[in-house]
Amino acid sequence: MEKKFNFLKEAISTVKTSGTIIPSSRFLAEKMLKNIDFDKAEVIVELGSGNGAITKHILNKMNKQTKLVCFEINESFHQELSKIKHCQMTILKSSAENINEELDKLGFKEADYVVSGLPLTMIPNEISENILIETHKSLKKGGRFVQFQYSLDYYKKLKSIFSKENVSLNFEPLNFPPAFIYSCIKK
Ligand SMILES: C[S@@+](CC[C@H](N)C(=O)[O-])C[C@H]1O[C@@H](n2cnc3c(N)ncnc32)[C@H](O)[C@@H]1O
Repeated sequence: MEKKFNFLKEAISTVKTSGTIIPSSRFLAEKMLKNIDFDKAEVIVELGSGNGAITKHILNKMNKQTKLVCFEINESFHQELSKIKHCQMTILKSSAENINEELDKLGFKEADYVVSGLPLTMIPNEISENILIETHKSLKKGGRFVQFQYSLDYYKKLKSIFSKENVSLNFEPLNFPPAFIYSCIKK
């Protein structure tokens, strides 16, 4: 018999890399995706997909021409995510740092949107900075990076990478913990 996946147990035992103990709420997922033009998106990337709390909402909204590429480094979350079968989705057990290399291997030149639940504050500084620089590089001109966080710690860093005027902030109280949403446009 297939063992039932226990998110809480996995999240607690890996809290330093998972950064949470509960999957994101549907309210947070919807707010994260509200500025995505699903009619035009060709390539959407999700960083730190976990067990698919946001992934499922992306898949529900996606058009037939869109491809979704998910990055997840945790073995158990990756396995759980892989149970979502969808022909437009590629699930990689690879770090977000490899975004450009992996997109290249898949034959994608750039991404229209990068949606991220990465726990940036839990990731060593030099790695999180590298992830943000690589993410910026991966986006097409006019593309958008959407990241949720439980603090404002990365607001300044994002403004330095995307420029102050291209970063906006939103907030979703109906999530545990309540979350800030950074939305960054590549000019
Ligand atoms: C806060 S959880 C978010 C999970 C899910 N997206 C959600 O909103 O419920 C962060 C996820 O990022 C993953 N993660 C952490 N560092 C990563 C990295 N360098 N590359 C890819 N995934 C990473 C963790 O394993 C974890 O599943």
